[in-house]
Amino acid sequence: METKVVIIDRALIRDDQLLEGAAILRKGGLVAFPTETVYGLGANALDPEAAKKIYAAKGRPSDNPLIAHIGQRSDLEVLVKEIPEAGRKLMKAYWPGPLTLIFPKSSAVPYETTGGLDTVAVRMPSDLVAKRLIELAGVPVAAPSANTSGRPSPTTADHVYEDMNGRIEMIVDGGPVGIGVESTIVDVTGSVPMLLRPGAVTLEMLCDTVGQVAVDPAVAKPMSAEIKPKAPGMKYRHYAPKAELMLVEGKEQSVSDKVVDVIANMALEKRAQGHEVGIICTDETYDRYPEEVRIRSLGQRSKEETIARNLFGVLREFDSLGVEYIYSESFSKEHLGQAIMNRLTKAAGYHILEV
Ligand code: TXA
Ligand code: MG
Repeated sequence: METKVVIIDRALIRDDQLLEGAAILRKGGLVAFPTETVYGLGANALDPEAAKKIYAAKGRPSDNPLIAHIGQRSDLEVLVKEIPEAGRKLMKAYWPGPLTLIFPKSSAVPYETTGGLDTVAVRMPSDLVAKRLIELAGVPVAAPSANTSGRPSPTTADHVYEDMNGRIEMIVDGGPVGIGVESTIVDVTGSVPMLLRPGAVTLEMLCDTVGQVAVDPAVAKPMSAEIKPKAPGMKYRHYAPKAELMLVEGKEQSVSDKVVDVIANMALEKRAQGHEVGIICTDETYDRYPEEVRIRSLGQRSKEETIARNLFGVLREFDSLGVEYIYSESFSKEHLGQAIMNRLTKAAGYHILEV
């Protein structure tokens, strides 16, 4: 299959550029499109055959449920059986935006979309290209991140092309995304809302809106017999680069000399053995690492938004350079830092060295 790429000028989003993609979605085909978080791989959420095509294109296990994306608030009714009070408050505060809510599903939503669950994940993206495409399609759009299963989520259309060329009908290229980590997921079906995946709508923001919020233990800790994530997708080795990644954590918030020394030494040692080595750092420490290895800064340490936006792109760049070992500085776990550290620790397979 030939994958068509349609480049969108964000200064003037034209319907005629999106109508073909909308028609493909309506007819059960696959179209990748930008959202404010990461690129999504879209299909008609109400069409079981279309949902199956997503799993095939991504190589994704079919028990991993999809998020249904809607263009406007009124599109929610057809997808859900009821809207719990906490859901109402959170939607009012953060939709459209990077927040996915889990509701009891209606009978209109096929189990192929929900991975067999009686709940459905719904999100209303704020990205105007995504919004218009969904509106023109006239159906809710199931969309996981548009990467091959197990790879870091795509933050540019080029990333999508790398993974999906020849597997899907169309890529809508709306330029690089703004946020760079996937949406926050909150389950509102229980008595207390539960955070299943941290994102740009932070835990602090959620608590401001609904008071108490529980955090799924799988957000911070590796899985074990006791800890099984409630978002099935979180159980897979996720966001993972091909290289072995180790996260080095100091005792203080800022990066200490010790962290820099430990990373530099480990990197040089692997390099001396002939390996391709990469270091992930910040602007403040960039100059302190050895030139013999590949060094990438995610930006200024205090600018969490920049760090989040650059993270997956750097992991993908290291993949394409054949990097075998990555050593990364770690970050504060507050606010957006919780999402950054959640993705980094998962990418590292929980290899964290405390120094
Ligand atoms: O930002 C995002 O959410 C992006 C863009 C494209 O919108 N999408 C995305 O989808 O990250 P995906 O499929 O990569 O991640 C969806 C996550 C998975 O971890 C999945 O297990 C969880 O949402 N999920 C979906 N439906 C669920 C449900 N009914 N109950 C619990 N978790 C659910
Ligand atoms: Mg994903």
